[in-house]
Amino acid sequence: MRKSRKKRSKRQQPQPALSTAKPEEPREGQGAVSEDAPEATVPTEETIPEAAPTRRRFFRQAWWALGGIALLEYVWVVISFLRPRGAPEGETGIVVAGPVAGFEPGTVTAFRRGKFYLSRLEDGGFLALSRECTHLGCTVPWDDEQGRFVCPCHASAYDQRGVVLDPPAPRPLDLFPIRIENGVVKVDTGDPQKRLTFDEAQVTEP
Ligand code: FES
Repeated sequence: MRKSRKKRSKRQQPQPALSTAKPEEPREGQGAVSEDAPEATVPTEETIPEAAPTRRRFFRQAWWALGGIALLEYVWVVISFLRPRGAPEGETGIVVAGPVAGFEPGTVTAFRRGKFYLSRLEDGGFLALSRECTHLGCTVPWDDEQGRFVCPCHASAYDQRGVVLDPPAPRPLDLFPIRIENGVVKVDTGDPQKRLTFDEAQVTEP
């Protein structure tokens, strides 16, 4: 009897009524998408900005640039120092070196104008020597301590007469003609003369 009562009570429970009503249209201003609302944009490869360089990369590039500039300046200074310099216009010609008595025997005097050395030998004779190395044309300084010219480029050496002591220089330093007038030494820097050996005839006696 109890079972039949339970069954009956289950059957008698009211079933939810199926609604046939249509869903309400959204009222104006409630949940409706306005036509004026901006469209959502999806990021693409074109719209994504490039990644800004990191600070570390920036400093590394800056250091490389500064290092490159410093290296270029260093190379320029070295080349400027070593390259032979031609005489500017107006600096060739006769250079009045000075009175004979102003040059002690056994000395070498450098002249900026005309770019030559006036070498007075121990016997009192004069030679005017070009300061350009006969190897590749570097400027050759006189080394007073060693008593010789030593080229800074490839270490060629010349004695006080301009004769080669150490190669690779192939021949002596070029000569400029000398005139001695009224006890004054004059050098013609417009007429350099090549030579293969030293000869006494090259020396100008006072
Ligand atoms: S240029 Fe002087 S030794 Fe080479």
